[in-house]
Amino acid sequence: MPEPIVTLVDVAKSYYKGSLEIPVLDGIDLEIQPGSFEALMGPSGSGKSTLLYLMAGLDRPTAGSIRVIGADLGSLSDAQLSEWRALNMGFVFQQYNLVPVLTAAENVELPLLLRKKLTKAQRAERVAIALEAAGLKGRDHHYPRELSGGQEQRVAIARAIVGDPKIIICDEPTGDLDGESANAILDLLGTLNKEFGKSIFMVTHDPDAADRATVQRRLKKGRLL
Ligand SMILES: Nc1ncnc2c1ncn2[C@@H]1O[C@H](COP(=O)(O)OP(=O)(O)OP(=O)(O)O)[C@@H](O)[C@H]1O
Ligand SMILES: [Mg+2]
Repeated sequence: MPEPIVTLVDVAKSYYKGSLEIPVLDGIDLEIQPGSFEALMGPSGSGKSTLLYLMAGLDRPTAGSIRVIGADLGSLSDAQLSEWRALNMGFVFQQYNLVPVLTAAENVELPLLLRKKLTKAQRAERVAIALEAAGLKGRDHHYPRELSGGQEQRVAIARAIVGDPKIIICDEPTGDLDGESANAILDLLGTLNKEFGKSIFMVTHDPDAADRATVQRRLKKGRLL
């Protein structure tokens, strides 16, 4: 068996409001194999987004260890963690999180600006490839307000893959879309998984979306079932 792409061992996370502890995750053990397409379901407030943010190195656990793509996230400084994230992770959120004053191509280019070694021409080439892979050829110069929700989510996916990450983490990527657009986005995620070999870890409330994944997991009251 290859080394898992993500390994969580006995991970716990609490938030604190003053001295009040709000436990959210408890005793999470999780292994994700490279190339898998996983769905995580569970009631609102069960800690799904919290778990994603920990896996993505956007937040740190209260206890336990998290290894992703060979890196022990707990041993990295905040600066190292940001750099690691830019090289290894793609994120897709429910609300797209595009910058409204930038075009589709400029939004997709953003993560590459952190890579000082890339020239402008190299960045443009990668942006064009990502936009095409996301099915957005010809939309490069459109602003987010000139795109449908489904197209905006494609731009967000192009932005997530432009740095060629091994894993794409999605938090309810179809939550704001109608059924047809949602299906098209799930098709795109499926293609990225099967044809481009990306590992995908997706939180969803939608059982049809979860059915697209090869592994389904469930979180309840901060524990994986
Ligand atoms: N930054 C924060 N500070 C304090 N409490 C938080 C914070 N983020 C989340 N929580 C709390 O942690 C719990 C889990 O939240 P989380 O967002 O992970 O749930 P979720 O499963 O993603 O829910 P949903 O399906 O509604 O998105 C909730 O009770 C929430 O209020
Ligand atoms: Mg959430």
